[in-house]
Amino acid sequence: MQPGRASGPVLGIESSCDETAAAVLDADGAVLAEAVLGQGAHAAFGGVVPEIAARAHLAHLPDLAAQVMREAGVGWDALAGVAASSGPGLIGGLIVGSGLGKGIALARRIPFVAVNHLEAHALSPRLPGLVPGGAAFPYLLLLVSGGHCQCVAVEGVGRHVRLGGTIDDAVGEAFDKVGKLLGLPWPGGPAVERLAAEGDPARHRLPRPLLGRPGCDFSFSGLKTAVAQLVARFPPGGLPRQDAADIAAGFQAAVAEVLADRAANALAAFAAAHPDGRLLVVAGGVAANAAVRSALAGVAQTCGYRLVAPPLRLCTDNAVMVAWAGLERLRLGLADGLDHAPRPRWPLDAPDMGPARP
Ligand code: KG4
Ligand code: ZN
Repeated sequence: MQPGRASGPVLGIESSCDETAAAVLDADGAVLAEAVLGQGAHAAFGGVVPEIAARAHLAHLPDLAAQVMREAGVGWDALAGVAASSGPGLIGGLIVGSGLGKGIALARRIPFVAVNHLEAHALSPRLPGLVPGGAAFPYLLLLVSGGHCQCVAVEGVGRHVRLGGTIDDAVGEAFDKVGKLLGLPWPGGPAVERLAAEGDPARHRLPRPLLGRPGCDFSFSGLKTAVAQLVARFPPGGLPRQDAADIAAGFQAAVAEVLADRAANALAAFAAAHPDGRLLVVAGGVAANAAVRSALAGVAQTCGYRLVAPPLRLCTDNAVMVAWAGLERLRLGLADGLDHAPRPRWPLDAPDMGPARP
C-alpha cells in the first residue's frame, strides 16, 4: 500500500481485555458499523478472569466480525486491510483477536496491522468529526483506564513520549477496588460515580498521593488503603447507603484533584517541548467520569489548552479506535507481518512503535 492511501474500508478487532468488539470504517474513517459485547461472566469474580475472557472472545468474535461486515454492507473482498489489537493486554484474548485478523488478511491477501491498544486510545481523537478542526499532532494524552494511567506526548503515528505514569495501581483499578470495598457491582467505576452523586465529598478528607510534588507520576494505592481503613471503622455487615455515598464522593474528589494536579505538571512539561500544542486529550474508561472531566477541563483552561474527551463509547474499549489506528498506519504504508507476535506488555514508546517496525 502506498503512503497517503487506504484503498477501501478497514475492519478493526478489539479483544485485549473483556470487551469483544469489531468495527468497519470506510477509507476516510467514517464508521460504517460497530459492535461491542461486554462479558458479564466476570462480575461474579469481581474482576476480569483471563481464561473466561479468552474463551468468550473465541466464542463471539468471528460472528461479531461477520455481523459488522454485513451491517456495513462491505464484502470481504472490498477490505483494504484488517487491524487487530495485538497488545498490551491479556494474552489469550490478544491471540484470539490477532489470529482472526491474520486469518482474514491471509485469506483475502490484504495487509494486517498489529495495533498497539494504547496507540488506538491515543489516536482516537483524530477520528473524523470528533474534534472541531481536527486533532493535529502534537497533543498531550492522559490515558486513564483499568489497566493504564499515563501521560503521553503524542507527536505522530508511532511517535509517543511517555511523560509519567502510575507507580502502583491504575486509576480505574482504584475505582474498581473502592467499588468492591463499598459492596458495589463490578466494574466499580460507573457504580462509584453514581453513588458519589448522593454523597458529601467533604465529610472524609482522604489523602491526595503525590499532590503538589514535581513530575507527572501518579499513585493510587495509598488512597485505596485509606478507603479500606475508613470502611473498616464502620460496624461489619454492610455500610449504610449514606456512609458509602460519602466515602465514594470523598474518594472521587481526591482522584479528580490528584489527576488535575498531575495533568497540570504534564501540560507544563509538554508545553516546554511543544510550544505549538494546544490540546489535552483524556481517554480510557475513567474519562467517562464527569468529576474527572470537569477537573481536567479546569486545568486545561488555566493552561490555555482545550480539553478533548471522546464520547463515552469511544473512551472505553472499542474496535472503532482500533480500525482507525489501522487506517492511520495503512495511510503511511505501515503494515505488519503475519508472524507479528501479540504481546502482553507493549509500551507506547517502545522502539518498535515507529515507522521502522520489524
Ligand atoms: O478503557 P477501559 O474500558 O478498559 C481498560 O481498562 O483498558 O476502562 C475500564 C475502566 C474500569 O476500571 C472502570 O471501572 C473505569 O474504566 N470506569 C470508570 C467509569 N466508567 C468506567 N471509572 C470512573 N468513573 C466512571 N464513570
Ligand atoms: Zn483500553
